[in-house]
Amino acid sequence: MKNTFYITTPIYYPSGRFHIGTAYTTVLADSMKRYHKLKGKETYMLTGTDEHGQKIQEKAQEQGKTPKEYVDEMARLAKELWKKMDIQYDDFIQTTEERHEKIVQKIFDKFMEQGDIYKGEYEGWYCVPCETYFTQTQLVNGKCPDCGREVKLMKEEAYFFNMKKYADRLLEYYEKNPEFIKPEYRKTEMINNFIKPGLEDLCVTRTNFDWGIKVLKDPKHVIYVWVDALTNYLTALGYMSDDDTLFKKYWPADLQIVGKDIARFHLIYWPIFLMALDLPLPKTILVHNWIMMKDGKMSKSKGNVIYPETLIDRYGLDATKYYLLREVPANQDGIFSPEAFIERYNFDLCNDLSNLLNRTVSMVNKYFDGKVPEYVGTPNDVDKEIEEFTKNQISEFENKWNNYEIALSIQEIWNLVSRTNKYIDETMPWTLAKENQNQKLKSCIYHLIENLRRIAILIKPFMDQTAENILRQIGVDQEVLETWESLKEYTKLKNLTVISKGEPIFMRLNPEEEIEFLKESMRNN
Ligand code: ME8
Ligand code: MG
Repeated sequence: MKNTFYITTPIYYPSGRFHIGTAYTTVLADSMKRYHKLKGKETYMLTGTDEHGQKIQEKAQEQGKTPKEYVDEMARLAKELWKKMDIQYDDFIQTTEERHEKIVQKIFDKFMEQGDIYKGEYEGWYCVPCETYFTQTQLVNGKCPDCGREVKLMKEEAYFFNMKKYADRLLEYYEKNPEFIKPEYRKTEMINNFIKPGLEDLCVTRTNFDWGIKVLKDPKHVIYVWVDALTNYLTALGYMSDDDTLFKKYWPADLQIVGKDIARFHLIYWPIFLMALDLPLPKTILVHNWIMMKDGKMSKSKGNVIYPETLIDRYGLDATKYYLLREVPANQDGIFSPEAFIERYNFDLCNDLSNLLNRTVSMVNKYFDGKVPEYVGTPNDVDKEIEEFTKNQISEFENKWNNYEIALSIQEIWNLVSRTNKYIDETMPWTLAKENQNQKLKSCIYHLIENLRRIAILIKPFMDQTAENILRQIGVDQEVLETWESLKEYTKLKNLTVISKGEPIFMRLNPEEEIEFLKESMRNN
């Protein structure tokens, strides 16, 4: 079995500060990477910036910069944010880098030579901010169907990619590879909305601006930004270059993550380009939903934008990532609200997780001088039950996570946290201590520590610092007890000493104050 895992995020438009919605894609990808790394895979994660196009040219002009100065500064800011968010990407590609531009030209050339790209004339309604042409019927009230802004009727000599030729092959591929598109309803959408009505050939060059990669054999044409952008997943690995070691090692991608707004480009054009290049297709393309606000999309004009830095600085990185991943379901958009954020913090993180750790650590100190007793079997009636329950939750987590139902999978971990808290109330260790029921008391404490250890491992992919903190407090310091593999163990803990005074990992927040803080920060943005 292939032991590598290549994962990509979309490359971002450098058009402004990233809000929590845009950061979501990358947090998700980073968590996936960490998960597969924990499971022993050799992982490679790619991210970057998508730097060509009219919109960027205009932005740079507004700021009195050259486009390259502008995009380099934006890429630097993106990297700064990813650093703050501890995103473990392996490569960051900018589409203005030579290693990318040269290969895009080669690819375009190849398509021309093969006859996949031909010359024609294009007329259509063009939306400048979206860099997309629309047909008359696609417009909504005469405006751009994506952003609602004005469109212009434009006509130009242009090159086209023959998409029609590949439509049947694409459908057949969808059919034969149920893992290719997640969640499955996105596949149905593509078939019903785009493929069945008849795939149009795609206009793949522009002449109305020049901030882009030029067609080698016809340089007044600039290559359409999506042809340029999508191929980054290949060029970053050195495809068609002098050194394609990474490409040989990692292609095809195992997981490509994209937001719902760019599903069409990744689920239709991208696989067709790959077919035209005679390359294997990625194993899975995961389409995620969006983070919305109560009043719709995040936008500066609405005064409802939340930036990741705001949450991280005040509540920590792990709480921020927990919230983002926990709030976006696979079947609909997630909603950010200050109330829900603070509630999750206070309930899930503080009441449930932090308290479980605290209660446990303090009981080990009180009853056993800080020394965790060894496994003594299951003398309490509920011991057997909690062992079964825990085993079950771990596999529920894995099933859902592997099927990319991330929010639900995390909920399974918190079900385990709640059940473990309830286990304390059921076994009443304070009574066991009073009645000198030593075996039962040992067993209870053992099971609590063992569950905390497992919970820490389960949250590692997205709450790394919290996981480390829990493991340190319960005295787990052996690598073998921190691996994914060790989730299967339940009886092997020996010679653990907890810290002498528990340290709360999450402290209860004052809801009124914090909700006001978040609302204020939204207004000021
Ligand atoms: O689309 N919630 O870049 P981009 C969740 N350059 N995800 C969101 C979001 C929200 N509120 N808002 C944006 C591009 N995103 C192209 C990609 S790939 C070859 C080229 C996600 O900066 C969005 O869905 O506009 C996308 O996945 C990512 O942020 C980058 O968006
Ligand atoms: Mg976008």
